[in-house]
Amino acid sequence: MKSHSSCSNKASRFHMDLFGRALVLLLLIFISPVDSCTKQERHYLLRFLTGLSQDGGLAASWRNNTDCCAWEGIICGEDGAVTELSLASRGLQGGISSSSLSKLTRLSRLNLSFNLLSGLLPPELISTSSIVILDVSFNRLDGELQELNSSSPDRPLQVLNISSNLFTGAFPSTTWEKMSNLFAINASNNSFTGHIPSTFCISSSSFSVLDLSYNQFSGNIPPGIGKCSSLRMLRAGQNNIVGTLPNDLFNATSLEYLSFANNGLQGTINAALIIKLSNLVFLDLGWNRLSGKIPNFIGQLKRLEELHMCSNNLSGELPPSLGKCTNLVTINLRNNKLTGELAKVNFSNLPNLKKIDFGLNNFTGTIPESIYSCSNLTWLRLSSNRLHGQLTKNIENLKSITTLSLSYNNFTNITNTVHILKSLRNLTVLLIGGNFKNEAMPQDEAIDGFENILALAIEQCALSGRIPNWFSKLRNLQVLVLRNNLLNGPIPTWINSLKLLSYVDISNNRLIGEIPVALMEMPMLKSDKVADNSDPRTFPLPVYAGACLCFQYHTATSLPKMLNLGNNKFTGGIPKEIGELKALLSLNLSFNNLNREIPQSINKLKNLMVLDLSHNHLTGTIPPALDNLHFLSKFNVSYNDLEGPVPIGGQFSTFPSSSFAGNPKLCSPMLLHRCYSAEAALSSPNSTKEYINKVVFVIAFCVFFVVGVLYDQMVLPRCFLLNQLR
Ligand SMILES: *[C@@H]1O[C@H](CO)[C@@H](O)[C@H](O)[C@H]1NC(C)=O
Ligand SMILES: *[C@@H]1O[C@H](CO)[C@@H](O)[C@H](O)[C@H]1NC(C)=O
Ligand SMILES: *[C@@H]1O[C@H](CO)[C@@H](O)[C@H](O)[C@H]1NC(C)=O
Ligand SMILES: *[C@@H]1O[C@H](CO)[C@@H](O)[C@H](O)[C@H]1NC(C)=O
Ligand SMILES: *[C@@H]1O[C@H](CO)[C@@H](O)[C@H](O)[C@H]1NC(C)=O
Ligand SMILES: *[C@@H]1O[C@H](CO)[C@@H](O)[C@H](O)[C@H]1NC(C)=O
Ligand SMILES: *[C@@H]1O[C@H](CO)[C@@H](O)[C@H](O)[C@H]1NC(C)=O
Ligand SMILES: *[C@@H]1O[C@H](CO)[C@@H](O)[C@H](O)[C@H]1NC(C)=O
Ligand SMILES: *[C@@H]1O[C@H](CO)[C@@H](O)[C@H](O)[C@H]1NC(C)=O
Ligand SMILES: *[C@@H]1O[C@H](CO)[C@@H](O)[C@H](O)[C@H]1NC(C)=O
Ligand SMILES: *[C@@H]1O[C@H](CO)[C@@H](O)[C@H](O)[C@H]1NC(C)=O
Ligand SMILES: *[C@@H]1O[C@H](CO)[C@@H](O)[C@H](O)[C@H]1NC(C)=O
Repeated sequence: MKSHSSCSNKASRFHMDLFGRALVLLLLIFISPVDSCTKQERHYLLRFLTGLSQDGGLAASWRNNTDCCAWEGIICGEDGAVTELSLASRGLQGGISSSSLSKLTRLSRLNLSFNLLSGLLPPELISTSSIVILDVSFNRLDGELQELNSSSPDRPLQVLNISSNLFTGAFPSTTWEKMSNLFAINASNNSFTGHIPSTFCISSSSFSVLDLSYNQFSGNIPPGIGKCSSLRMLRAGQNNIVGTLPNDLFNATSLEYLSFANNGLQGTINAALIIKLSNLVFLDLGWNRLSGKIPNFIGQLKRLEELHMCSNNLSGELPPSLGKCTNLVTINLRNNKLTGELAKVNFSNLPNLKKIDFGLNNFTGTIPESIYSCSNLTWLRLSSNRLHGQLTKNIENLKSITTLSLSYNNFTNITNTVHILKSLRNLTVLLIGGNFKNEAMPQDEAIDGFENILALAIEQCALSGRIPNWFSKLRNLQVLVLRNNLLNGPIPTWINSLKLLSYVDISNNRLIGEIPVALMEMPMLKSDKVADNSDPRTFPLPVYAGACLCFQYHTATSLPKMLNLGNNKFTGGIPKEIGELKALLSLNLSFNNLNREIPQSINKLKNLMVLDLSHNHLTGTIPPALDNLHFLSKFNVSYNDLEGPVPIGGQFSTFPSSSFAGNPKLCSPMLLHRCYSAEAALSSPNSTKEYINKVVFVIAFCVFFVVGVLYDQMVLPRCFLLNQLR
């Protein structure tokens, strides 16, 4: 009843509104003007206004005065004709009426960006004989853009920004043939399909900027763009464009910014042609299927500042001439099949370098000393290659370095490495796992420094020794990964002094003793709040990132809070204080020698999504209250000595019977061992609807987490896999 009446209220208000506007319109048209704005112009402006369902308060101003030159958002020329409409960010909703603004014969600038306008873009707006600059970006306009009649006379349009709307269909082509003043088109972030057009420069010699990125363009790059002798910026990344880079493209020699990132381009990079683009400052061909070598001619691109070629099939060695691109700031060649020594390039002539990513290739040899002369370097990622050797003192010259990843190579002498790196005061992320095979964890109590380190990963090294005491000085540590080593001894009791630690993976070691209560006092794991932002520093987590998003920064607060103690030799019971770790999303205690009962308090871990207690010697029952852990999506208590009924409410109806295997005394309607009806009655089944809601929530959370934090669709099904830190 209530909703019905409010609905009809709204409807009647709407009618009043419409009526009011029509009245104003009539009044304004027929009261004779003593001002400069013509009747006609007012009429068309008010027609535009009436087409809106939400005018953001414009009517109040436009109604007040008969001189439309005095209206908000309107600028008139000296002779009183409306020349400019500037209505960005006004909260306008509704459609752009077709015979309104396009009829303003002197209108040259129209800016309707950042509103909520919907429906079609009236084609006359593009083809008026007056509009020079048209910006309707960031709206919800949709439908196809009509092809305009090319036999119509020259149009003055210079700038068209239709980006970030919902346009679909083929992009007009002949429309541009007669526009001799065309300067810039931004159509990015829509859903255009079909070939990218190449007719922009048939009449216009001043065409400079073309942005078609984030659409669904497909097919080859057609010839014609080479005619654009003034083209400075061409962005067509994030489409489905295939084929090779056409020779014609390299005739657009004014290009400074060229990106075809994340498409399906193939073939090799033509050495003789690339040098024609000697004005290039930014080149992004990452995430395609380009093959062959990086041509040595690249050294002739003297202005080049950013080179992104990540995730292709490039092979061969680094071209030595790269050392001549003295303006280089960023080189990203990650994830190719490059081989040979990094020392092929003399880095000492590249003083501006800030970011280098050579990860996931097949480079061999040692780290060239010349790289250490790039004193402005903040990122250096060499992970997953076949490099060897020891770090030298010269790396101390990299005073600005924040992220260093050397993981999965064959570097040696971890003691030396730690002693050298500790003095790099700005180092926040250090990833050195997969090296130093069978060495000993440095225990030297005197090791200090690393005061700003946020993430430390030394996994998969077969390191022996204890968790060293110098870790207790890493006061800013948020992420600690020591997985897959041979570490022994207990978890140190100072662990709770690492006040920011929220991601701990010490699985697959030989750690002994009881799980210390200190671990249940970790502030970041206890806090249910989304971390206090007292430390505003961003966390440069070098996750595998999509496209050349390789240099994404993320805050540590977006990391899942995790404790993984699996596959060690821990003994005793699970401390009942475990219930304090309310922020935990994932708890893994599997493959240890834990005994006694599962503490009831575990049901306080309301955020838990993964709980693995399998392969221990736990006894007693599964606490029935666990069925109120609404986000639990993975649960495993297999191979213990549990007994009694398996809860059947909440998430428990979703877990496979393998979650409970190897506990002969457990019973459930789903297991071999059925419960007596009295036992089963203990748990009350929840309604299916509630269950579905929870599942949807959990799935949504996972997708959000992975897309938002990892930017890597490859790990989509695995919400918690951060163990690929490289
Ligand atoms: C209406 O116009 C008067 C004078 O022209 C002005 O003082 C007043 O602020 C205007 N009101 C609105 C809502 O623009
Ligand atoms: C349109 O207005 C927005 C917001 O003020 C501004 O960012 C944009 O540059 C304007 N467009 C043009 C073409 O000037
Ligand atoms: C294009 O314009 C010409 C002349 O202005 C006209 O003859 C023709 O019918 C138009 N074509 C379309 C499809 O509107
Ligand atoms: C739309 O593109 C034009 C040309 O590149 C630019 O001047 C304008 O600022 C852009 N609008 C917005 C809202 O960014
Ligand atoms: C085109 O518009 C998008 C926003 O819609 C913006 O991010 C991009 O920088 C613009 N491209 C150019 C070349 O200005
Ligand atoms: C695309 O458009 C949407 C909606 O306007 C906006 O939220 C988003 O930031 C845009 N993306 C890019 C890459 O410009
Ligand atoms: C590039 O331009 C030159 C002249 O500047 C011309 O001879 C050549 O045919 C053009 N190449 C292509 C592929 O259009
Ligand atoms: C690196 O080289 C090895 C042996 O030559 C080969 O098996 C491997 O596939 C190569 N890896 C890449 C990423 O090219
Ligand atoms: C590089 O660092 C030096 C100081 O070591 C500084 O003078 C220079 O401006 C920096 N260059 C860039 C491009 O940031
Ligand atoms: C270290 O980081 C701080 C804070 O970000 C910055 O102000 C300082 O310049 C950096 N030091 C070097 C040598 O880059
Ligand atoms: C790593 O280096 C060690 C000693 O430097 C060598 O014995 C070993 O074969 C290397 N391993 C690989 C996989 O190259
Ligand atoms: C490892 O480094 C330390 C300190 O730099 C040095 O004393 C030691 O000789 C090195 N060990 C090996 C095997 O090279």
